[in-house]
Amino acid sequence: MTEEDRRAPAAVVFDALGLDYERAFAASAPHRASLARLLELLAPGSRVLDVGSGTGRPTAQTLAAAGHRVLGIDVSPVMVDLAARQVPEAEFRLADIRGTAVAEGSFDAACAYFSLLQMTRDDQRAVVAKLARAVRPGGLVALATVPVDVEDAEGVFMGQPVRATSFDAEAFRALVTAAGLTVLSEEETLFTPDHPRAAPEPQLFLLARRTAG
Ligand SMILES: C[S@@+](CC[C@H](N)C(=O)[O-])C[C@H]1O[C@@H](n2cnc3c(N)ncnc32)[C@H](O)[C@@H]1O
Repeated sequence: MTEEDRRAPAAVVFDALGLDYERAFAASAPHRASLARLLELLAPGSRVLDVGSGTGRPTAQTLAAAGHRVLGIDVSPVMVDLAARQVPEAEFRLADIRGTAVAEGSFDAACAYFSLLQMTRDDQRAVVAKLARAVRPGGLVALATVPVDVEDAEGVFMGQPVRATSFDAEAFRALVTAAGLTVLSEEETLFTPDHPRAAPEPQLFLLARRTAG
């Protein structure tokens, strides 16, 4: 078995993309608008978990610049290294969220921007439920996904072979609600990444609150 085979598929893709991902996506106005909605509701000095933190930009950087304490985790060593160098005011760890225990109620908010798509549907449900438990009652969960009904579909993403799994918007909303979250706001958009080999993609941003009590 090669070293590549032992890595999670998402680590193989995002180790290869590195800063190219940030160049294509970080200027996204809908992503920044989603962060602005989250920031409006966060108390000063909130503890925020960013799952699939990528290069740290824009999510961890924006939240840390606003004075929040951010822990980013990512399964790609290249991404963790980039994030740690680019956003020294946040903390980043190499970890796969699927196998990572997160203490109940240990964060004020959790984010997962486009980091569920290389997981099975069961794993996506389990991770959203984990994020819902990771925030305190009344805490916030910000999610972004590509709302299409595909399961283990083969494709090419920015020149990299990928297999992707997702839900349509209605099914994704349903899994968020089933995790014990109440949707506060949502935006659906069509975004064209700034990359010659990227295609326009539908995106869904949800901001949700853990049901109090
Ligand atoms: C599409 S990128 C998005 C990065 C960042 N959230 C953003 O929006 O700029 C997805 C990131 O999630 C990470 N990721 C995918 N599956 C993961 C998992 N099971 N655990 C932790 N990170 C994961 C990838 O390595 C990648 O850096």
